[in-house]
Amino acid sequence: MEFQTIIEPFRIKTVEPIRQLNREERIEALRNAHYNLFRVKAEDILIDLLTDSGTGAMSSEQWAGVMRADESYAGARSFYRFRDAVRKITGFKHVLPTHQGRAAEHILFGAAVSAGQIVPNNTHFDTTRANIEAQSAEARDLPIAEALHPEVEHPFKGNLDVAALADTLESEGGNVPMVFVTVTNNSGGGQPVSMANIRAVSELCRHHGIPLFLDACRFAENSWFIKQREEGYGDKTPLEIAKEMFSYADGCTMSAKKDGLTNIGGFLALNDDDLAHDCRDQLILTEGFPTYGGLAGHDLEAVALGLFEALDEAYLRYRVRSVAYFGDKLMAAGIPIVRPPGGHAIYIDAKAMLPHIPPLEFPAWALSVVLYAEGGVRSVEIGSVMFGHQPDGSEKPAPMELVRLAFPRRVYTQSHVDYLCEVVAHVNDLRSRIRGLVIVEAPPTLRHFTAKLKPLGGALLAS
Ligand code: F0G
Repeated sequence: MEFQTIIEPFRIKTVEPIRQLNREERIEALRNAHYNLFRVKAEDILIDLLTDSGTGAMSSEQWAGVMRADESYAGARSFYRFRDAVRKITGFKHVLPTHQGRAAEHILFGAAVSAGQIVPNNTHFDTTRANIEAQSAEARDLPIAEALHPEVEHPFKGNLDVAALADTLESEGGNVPMVFVTVTNNSGGGQPVSMANIRAVSELCRHHGIPLFLDACRFAENSWFIKQREEGYGDKTPLEIAKEMFSYADGCTMSAKKDGLTNIGGFLALNDDDLAHDCRDQLILTEGFPTYGGLAGHDLEAVALGLFEALDEAYLRYRVRSVAYFGDKLMAAGIPIVRPPGGHAIYIDAKAMLPHIPPLEFPAWALSVVLYAEGGVRSVEIGSVMFGHQPDGSEKPAPMELVRLAFPRRVYTQSHVDYLCEVVAHVNDLRSRIRGLVIVEAPPTLRHFTAKLKPLGGALLAS
């Protein structure tokens, strides 16, 4: 007998209470936070889906690893465990620990990218883009056309547009220091990339003699989607699939805060000896000695274990299924989301849900704030507050107005998800009353983190 219910494949040993403010208290918290959820205190949130990064629960084995760890400055046992774990999965020769993903990006781009060059990617995550732009280089997004249409279904909507890459390398190959593929494609909805796509990109890169790097933050979730959806992979283990993905690349950057199942950590791994040498010099300058690179021995130990726990089939089945369970319920309730559900998050299409709010009155921001006011849920806007401000000071609507609800790993249960569905359905019923907002004060860059806003008409909902 095969039972249908996919349960959380763990039992709970430690609990952290969460508290429910009432609606008036949440409205007050929002007012005090200038209608910016980044400014709300975490203890005032009931269910926190701001990010899946560094917010997961570690296992009893990982905590035991924390105690076993070696905190020696140089050559710690924990480093070798970490290095061997990364090598076993990625096959890359050089492994440089960093405190998180963006530090790996900063070191790699500092060593390998110069002004005026172009780095193609399916879609750059914002820190990846910012670190390339910090070298005065161009971060060029080349997603497949389907990626820009939330309602269009595609099994591998994270794929890179191979024809567009071929054109770019044909015309500007000499100016492309490396190509990136982000698995899964976070900015494109947490959508997976197929093995066939990674292989095709790799062949093209090798033909032009250009290295391929994976932004591997969610490599285990991507492996699971390949196992589920791509012909020929159903009988392979997630580890075998991950190894094959990495075999087509020359290196990777990694935030272990995602599929490393830890609260901090990351790495840069690569095969090229000369480049690794330059990166290691930079690592010493900005992160730490090469056998700890900005992490404690206990962090290295936790990552070494977490990388393999993230590849466990029971875990991945529960992980991807619980996000899909949420997405399926929302779709059944007629709520527009990016389809199909992604690996780590559900993205609500606020442009479709709130057509009465123009983009520059920030419909996705308004929706995220109302989700908090009504249900104590924290999400993040990926829309015109995040991307609307142009370098010349003007405002331009973002391509999409999305609200991302990202799931911390091993933290919430199915009843939390059922509650979320009720909250979103309730907010959907109120949708015609939701008002836009105006920015009162904001810094010129990365304004979404600190901006102060207020609702147009003085209240979040029209009466
Ligand atoms: N690449 C991708 C695809 C990411 O999603 C992130 C982080 C990074 C790189 C940077 O890693 O945070 O360890 O420096 N994403 C988080 C998020 C912040 O909420 O999506 P980091």
